[in-house]
Amino acid sequence: MDAREVLARVRDARGLTAEQADWFARGLASGEVTDAQAGAFAMAIRLNGLDAPGRVALTRAMRDSGQVLHWDLPGPVVDKHSTGGLGDSVSLLLAPALAACGCYVPMISGRGLGHTGGTLDKLESIPGYRTDLTVDELQKLVRETRCIITGASADIAPADRRLYAIRDVTASVESIDLITASILSKKLAAGLEALVLDVKVGSGAFMKTMDQARALAQSLVSTAQGAGCMTTALITDMNQPLGCSAGNALEVLEAMETLTGTAVNQALWDLTAALGGEALALAGLAADADEGAQKIDDALETGRAAEIFGEMVAALGGPLDFVERFPDRLPAAPVMREVRAAGTGFVAAVDAEALGMAVVRLGGGRLKNGDRINPSVGLSELVMIGERVSPDLPLAMVHAATEAEADRASAAVRAAYTLADTEPDEPDLIYERIG
Ligand code: URA
Repeated sequence: MDAREVLARVRDARGLTAEQADWFARGLASGEVTDAQAGAFAMAIRLNGLDAPGRVALTRAMRDSGQVLHWDLPGPVVDKHSTGGLGDSVSLLLAPALAACGCYVPMISGRGLGHTGGTLDKLESIPGYRTDLTVDELQKLVRETRCIITGASADIAPADRRLYAIRDVTASVESIDLITASILSKKLAAGLEALVLDVKVGSGAFMKTMDQARALAQSLVSTAQGAGCMTTALITDMNQPLGCSAGNALEVLEAMETLTGTAVNQALWDLTAALGGEALALAGLAADADEGAQKIDDALETGRAAEIFGEMVAALGGPLDFVERFPDRLPAAPVMREVRAAGTGFVAAVDAEALGMAVVRLGGGRLKNGDRINPSVGLSELVMIGERVSPDLPLAMVHAATEAEADRASAAVRAAYTLADTEPDEPDLIYERIG
């Protein structure tokens, strides 16, 4: 086959066959497809789109461009993926809670993207925690501890790694077809039987409108199902941070407080239960999502999920007593500053993307590829929509490396909040279920 044959078909919106998708994905992984050809491919798909069979073919081909895991375990292999938001540490609660309910969870996670946080960056704030497992190590440890959260090894979906980097520099990231194939190729390479998706919508999400979120959710669900993985999606709110903390160690702290019941964040807990309920129903471990959510509640309440989280941290090189001593084990920033509201009123809106960028600028995320992250910085005690504030009451606590950075972040936090005289409706946590 010749790359030009494939490119001409996509350029002319004549679809993409499974054979062509396989050839192109293998060429991306091996280097036989050049950067120019990969850029033309991405742009042609960005402009013309793919039909449903083409999207499934590309997803399967990118999944199969590297190692695909196969399991022989006494329980279902399941996972969750979120399209990205702020203050969202659900993965840290959900992976061990699903494991406590009888699932096996090989959760291959990513790093922060733009203003959104990344699970791997959060976990790396735990001293010693390894996120670079080989596929063999992942398989062994999932069998032993039931849940492992780690990064994608170079062997997982290498075609996506190459195409993603090229999309990034050719203005072709924003394509539902390419986003679908990219997310699912990595997730499905983990050999999942069931997948639940958290598609975020709102000021802190990549999808700002319900129409965009619905289109992405439908594409992800139908493509994953077409590729043989039982999948549902929840479209959930990201018009404000999910938890009250944003920043790597601060989010681990909040997740651990919720896991251990020392200070429960209700939104984190509720979304964990809702997504977990869907996953357990898909996996056949609950009659429906409500019964599944109840099982997740039990796993959290009994401390069984916290125990499994501790076993995972220990297995990956972190402190053996992390669950008992997490406040002492996590890094803390040298400067802590309360941010006061500019006026009096109810919080009517939050620019969650601006809060995310404030965290990035504090050093909690990357402004360019390869930037080092400071795990201790970020925001905590963030006030939510509907709460009453005044110049005497804090909007948030800034955790910074220097006084100057704390000043800059305080101004950004103040600007991200819109106040009103009347009490607004609080946004729903979950808008729709697709599947
Ligand atoms: N996350 C991915 O893995 N791929 C995309 O294209 C977008 C978000």
